[in-house]
Amino acid sequence: MSQLLITGGAGFIGSHTCVILLDAGHDLIVLDDFSNSSAEALVRVAELAGVELGSKRLSLQRADIRQTSALEQLFAAAQSRGCPIEAVVHFAGLKAVGESVQNPLHYWDVNVGGTVSLVKAMQEFGCRTLVFSSSATLYGYPDEVPIKEGAPIQPINPYGHTKAAVERLLNDLAASAPEQWRIACLRYFNPVGAHPSGRIGEDPLGRPNNLFPFVSQVAVGRRPEIEVFGGDWPTADGTCIRDYIHVMDLAEGHRAALSTLLQEPPQVLTLNLGSGHGASVLDVIQAFETACGRPIPHSIQQRRPGDAAITVADPAAAKERLGWSTRRNLHDICRDGWAWQSANPSGYGPGPASA
Ligand code: NAD
Ligand code: WQD
Repeated sequence: MSQLLITGGAGFIGSHTCVILLDAGHDLIVLDDFSNSSAEALVRVAELAGVELGSKRLSLQRADIRQTSALEQLFAAAQSRGCPIEAVVHFAGLKAVGESVQNPLHYWDVNVGGTVSLVKAMQEFGCRTLVFSSSATLYGYPDEVPIKEGAPIQPINPYGHTKAAVERLLNDLAASAPEQWRIACLRYFNPVGAHPSGRIGEDPLGRPNNLFPFVSQVAVGRRPEIEVFGGDWPTADGTCIRDYIHVMDLAEGHRAALSTLLQEPPQVLTLNLGSGHGASVLDVIQAFETACGRPIPHSIQQRRPGDAAITVADPAAAKERLGWSTRRNLHDICRDGWAWQSANPSGYGPGPASA
């Protein structure tokens, strides 16, 4: 099996994907600067996959993706060991919408500049297979739901603009050498849940921005209640509808994308990764209450600026191209999310991600 570089592999989606890729037999080099994660996540990834952290199966390089020289050294070292990096799965980046509005330059620097730095190093060392973490945020306020990949790209915040810019860059790059590049832009909908063991999960820095970690933290008693942003949306119960995807389904989607890229002729694959099912904010709260067996205090508040009423994926293209679709439902998501949150009420413990 091949050696892969996983940028941002200590983060929420990266750590779960590492477990799946190790199980599939790949050797991994994780590159992360731990700006939004903890090294403890990788200790647990190693434990779950039954490999040794620091071994050929799973090694770690602490670095910033913007440092092209660090990336070049890493590619060169792998080549000189006789096991060149065959492909990159690129998770490293910043993802907080509000923060991107406050500090757009930082978001363009890390998300776009970081990807430029990465693909420069890849090009130099002849590595031309890349799976990129894109986002449903590209669709902004969608004109139609369920959303197909051909829907207009109309992001409404700087974070979304950086994802659109990277997709543009990757398409330009592939067009310059279409016989070489194998690229997947995977547009995730709302990734949530945790590994069923409860050993790894989402550990956001400070006050969570997103619904699922907030609900989990209320359930475990870290926060008193959850504010529901709007009860007057044009939906059955008045709260917004999203397509929540179990992080293990998402991780399996990466394995499927990588295997399709490596087997088929060079191409750019642009695919939604979602379940195709919508759940409202109140559905999520209720499902989590069932999973944890306790009430989750909540109150209806003002709408949050920038929210769309309904975003749900049309996942048909991923099924057709990758043979992949989600296998886990909202019940599984809440059960596994609770297993993680209840066993790790403060996340991974001391360190940047639990400050
Ligand atoms: P995360 O913050 O948990 O993981 C990102 C990882 O990248 C972290 O470990 C962080 O330390 C690392 N990182 C950040 N900047 C870096 C840099 N300059 N150099 C090296 N490492 C750096 O986020 P996540 O939820 O796992 O998201 C992973 C990717 O998926 C991101 O690109 C994100 O934009 C994208 N995405 C996430 C969601 C979501 O809701 N979680 C949805 C769609 C897309
Ligand atoms: C879900 C629903 C909120 C918090 C975000 C990013 C998107 C993508 C996924 C990266 C909405 C409501 C939330 C709370 C609430 N990330 N809510 N109370 O906004 O769909 O997507 O994460 O690419 O780019 O924008 O997810 O979890 O923030 O919100 O009522 O305290 O929960 O209004 O309807 P969102 P979310």
